[in-house]
Amino acid sequence: MNPPETLAPDLDSPSRAQARSDGIEQARQALAKVFVVPNLTYPQRLQHAKDINALLALLEFQSGIVELESRPQLIDLPVAGKCNLRCTMCGLSHGDPSYPNWTLAEVQRFEPLFKTARSVNPTGAGEPLSNRDLFSMLELFFGYGLAAGFFTNATLLTAEKSERLIRLGITQLNISIDGATKETFEAIRHGAKFETVVGNARAFVQKRRELGRDRPALQIGMVLMQENMHELVDMVRLAADIGANGLYTMFVSPLVPEKMCARDPVRTNRCLREARKVAAELKLHFHAPADLPEPKIAAPLPVESASLAAPAPASVPAAVPQAVAPAPAAQLKGHYCTYPWKQMVVWNDGNVSPCCRIRDQVDGLPFGQIQDSEPEALWNSAGMVRLRERLLAGKPPPDCVACPIRTLHMQS
Ligand SMILES: C[S@@+](CC[C@H](N)C(=O)[O-])C[C@H]1O[C@@H](n2cnc3c(N)ncnc32)[C@H](O)[C@@H]1O
Ligand code: SF4
Repeated sequence: MNPPETLAPDLDSPSRAQARSDGIEQARQALAKVFVVPNLTYPQRLQHAKDINALLALLEFQSGIVELESRPQLIDLPVAGKCNLRCTMCGLSHGDPSYPNWTLAEVQRFEPLFKTARSVNPTGAGEPLSNRDLFSMLELFFGYGLAAGFFTNATLLTAEKSERLIRLGITQLNISIDGATKETFEAIRHGAKFETVVGNARAFVQKRRELGRDRPALQIGMVLMQENMHELVDMVRLAADIGANGLYTMFVSPLVPEKMCARDPVRTNRCLREARKVAAELKLHFHAPADLPEPKIAAPLPVESASLAAPAPASVPAAVPQAVAPAPAAQLKGHYCTYPWKQMVVWNDGNVSPCCRIRDQVDGLPFGQIQDSEPEALWNSAGMVRLRERLLAGKPPPDCVACPIRTLHMQS
């Protein structure tokens, strides 16, 4: 179903629109055939399916299509609903309930989406390493050629688990360490011991070295809050000293307003600037949010660069028109964010949504729950379709207006 005329984006010339329409048809046909055409190995078929699906998603987005034939490229599955810690900024410490950890059978319900997806993130609000089926789930993901990595509090990261994760070939491990000192870390990460977590992170790097691997990448994750901002530079040093590949930082969500860095943007920006400098000196990859507006508080962050210049993937079969050029960003007047065209997030309570900022419905139309529908059907649920329509119409719902992560990039 195409959006009604009034919602259709004012894209570009008729010839471009026609080229995209032809491209969509050819991509659909190529996708339908990719598992039956001869002379391809199964991994090659999987790769083709993922590439064609990504191209189809881009063309559908550019063409203003809201009921999609392409499937999600990124899937978040909350395989652990329980946690052994109670960090002060986490929803689990603020009334969010725990849920039973998922079984392998629950993950298998998503298999119809795995052939065309690129990556799965088995991190929800809980501790993935507390799920005893996690390794079987990872094996399932890798059988479908998916990239998979997750966040962990690393309290349960034994030497044996580190070795299994490295040998399995996970893409990336993110270890959450929210303070560079024992005092700050343990005041935030209730139930964890600083020496244990840092020791487990070091042991992971050591094991990777012993096995002669440079992957999976190890990233240290830090949630930036009032009470740990002053240790950001030391966190950069600690991450480098551990031998991590990078430090990934994000601002604490508004769930805990008194912790928000926006309460003191001048100090926050000073710490960020200093940390960037030290990270550059240490050659550590440092992912950090943009500086906060000064002196005003809580203005939405600017959208990422509006480039959509995602090239057609190299391995797409010749049947797919690689020459279909993405529309210049300036012509994508009605477009607002690509997440609803590429990502499916499942929440601990079973709600499905396109990102971590919007939770369950738009205009009273629910995104749907995995208890009620199959995952494939939820991708085009009434709420998902309405959200796409509103974004194309330039009428984003309030959650989207306040969102600092919206993006016009189709690739993540
Ligand atoms: C919910 S945890 C689950 C994985 C694992 N238990 C851990 O702590 O890494 C995933 C990530 O969310 C972060 N997080 C928790 N509460 C947050 C909040 N209020 N705002 C932003 N990030 C938060 C955690 O620090 C962690 O990096
Ligand atoms: S370890 Fe992770 S899931 Fe557990 S309480 Fe802390 S942030 Fe939440």
